[in-house]
Amino acid sequence: RGISCQKYISQSLVHSRLYTAPAHSLKRTIDEKRKESIQGGGKTKRDAQHNKGKLTARERLDLLLDKGTFREYDAFVEHQCTDFGLDAKKIAGDGVVTGHGTIHGRRVFVYSQDFTVFGGSLSRTNSLKILKVMDQAVVVGAPIIGLQDSGGARIQEGVDSLAGYSDIFQKNVLASGVVPQLSLVMGPCAGGAVYSPALTDFIFMVRDTSHMFVTGPDVVKTVTNEKVDQEVLGGAITHTRKSGVAHNAYANDIEALQRMRDFFDYLPLSNRDQVPVRVCEDPLDREDAALDTIVPTHSNVAYDMQEVISRILDKHSFFELAPEYAGNIIVGLGRLGGKTVGVVANQPLVSSGALDIDASVKAARFIRFCDAFNVPLVTLVDVPGFMPGTAQEHGGIIRHGAKLLYAYCEATVPKLTVITRKAYGGAYIVMSSKHLRGDYNVAWPSAEIAVMGASGAVEVIFRNHHDKPKMEAEYQEKFATPLSAARRGYLDDIIQPRTTRARLIEQLDLLKTKSIQNPWKKHGTIPL
Ligand code: HXC
Repeated sequence: RGISCQKYISQSLVHSRLYTAPAHSLKRTIDEKRKESIQGGGKTKRDAQHNKGKLTARERLDLLLDKGTFREYDAFVEHQCTDFGLDAKKIAGDGVVTGHGTIHGRRVFVYSQDFTVFGGSLSRTNSLKILKVMDQAVVVGAPIIGLQDSGGARIQEGVDSLAGYSDIFQKNVLASGVVPQLSLVMGPCAGGAVYSPALTDFIFMVRDTSHMFVTGPDVVKTVTNEKVDQEVLGGAITHTRKSGVAHNAYANDIEALQRMRDFFDYLPLSNRDQVPVRVCEDPLDREDAALDTIVPTHSNVAYDMQEVISRILDKHSFFELAPEYAGNIIVGLGRLGGKTVGVVANQPLVSSGALDIDASVKAARFIRFCDAFNVPLVTLVDVPGFMPGTAQEHGGIIRHGAKLLYAYCEATVPKLTVITRKAYGGAYIVMSSKHLRGDYNVAWPSAEIAVMGASGAVEVIFRNHHDKPKMEAEYQEKFATPLSAARRGYLDDIIQPRTTRARLIEQLDLLKTKSIQNPWKKHGTIPL
């Protein structure tokens, strides 16, 4: 009012200049900071990363996620440390790239440690970025994948960095069984930092370029005088073959990321979700005549359970986990009629399929994952028993075998069991028998269900008999069949092997409405 149009316009111009000038410089700062975050530690460090055969944090996310789906959080976050001259060294993003995207169209939260920035080390703010996406994953109900490539705790930040790790560990535990948590170790992962991947459900590693150890070679040398290199101490081969810490190992970053994408496709997004359903081109009632003769007529001759699995599941659908560890038991996710199932199977080719400490723990953990995430269990049994001997007894096979028993007893998902040949003694019970709330338990005609094998039994009950071979044959005839168990209803049926696939698919369909609950408890006390 009382102001001329001309004056108003010129005043507006002044105002707009006043506002646009800083806005331009603000925009420039934002753009520069975003660019800085994208550049990470700069070209030299990126080249160094490439020269080690590793991709950068962002290149990895590009390969892991569907094209163009990555939505980044916290690209502008900087560390708050002022010690050791760090206040002059701030890089937007602070060494970890976080956000969400999709894999084959399904939501996933991710974080990718950027080794080019402070060696990917974990600062307090860096940990807050990771915690934010972990929280979001739980709230939304989507898996979280962590790509590990870090020098560990940001040394300059001292206890603040340890606090960051602590919060991540705590969050890992709270998220456990709520959303799948997956780790891809793609560089160093040392010290207490290893315990975040260790708390997740599955760990994949990259051969030659990734390492995990609680104490590095130098500390090992100082404390124990043992000389060992990083690879032998904690490389991918060590952890997938010896320690069982990691599940699968791949030749390079690209292969590891592609296989992680494949694996993701089997997983329910959370414990509130059901298993994903994929188009199944393999006929549901496909019979496979080769299964009728796959079990050798002589009971002590081995055969490959992998072949049985691949002939039953949807074609090319089996994703084996920990294939190089405890080969006497096979575990992995596959599909029947397009739906994910968890497969647990004894492998007669390795130690006759006997259950030992490593096999028991490997399978128990897998079963608990499946049960937590509504994945039905298919168990294929050919087990001569628990492995005998002092090594096993002194190592605690009683305690470790109990884990497997516990896991099957506790599981409330659909449980389907096929006994292909031997099911002896305690191992018969443990391997998802009818007695452990098995939903559908069948045997092939070649099944032998007894307290123990014929020769062992005769040694005990006919120790002084003059004609042991005769008694063995008698025992064999009486017990080396599925009939006595079927007569008692401990088996639901004896089926022709070729029909196994159709039977399992039919029963899975029937069991899709299964709903049972264990008694309320804070938590069980699994014998760890
Ligand atoms: C700060 C770190 C760092 C760290 C590496 N850097 N680790 N900065 N804190 N933890 C920096 C380096 O100073 C270097 O910076 C850059 O990252 C790259 O490191 P390099 O040593 O040049 O790389 P490389 O030769 O490939 O060796 C990688 C490495 C080594 C083996 C990881 O960096 C290393 O040993 N780092 C220390 C590992 C460690 O002891 N961490 C603490 C573990 S205890 P410039 O500026 O020179 O490029 C721990 C406790 C966790 O983590 C407890 C949780 C409960």
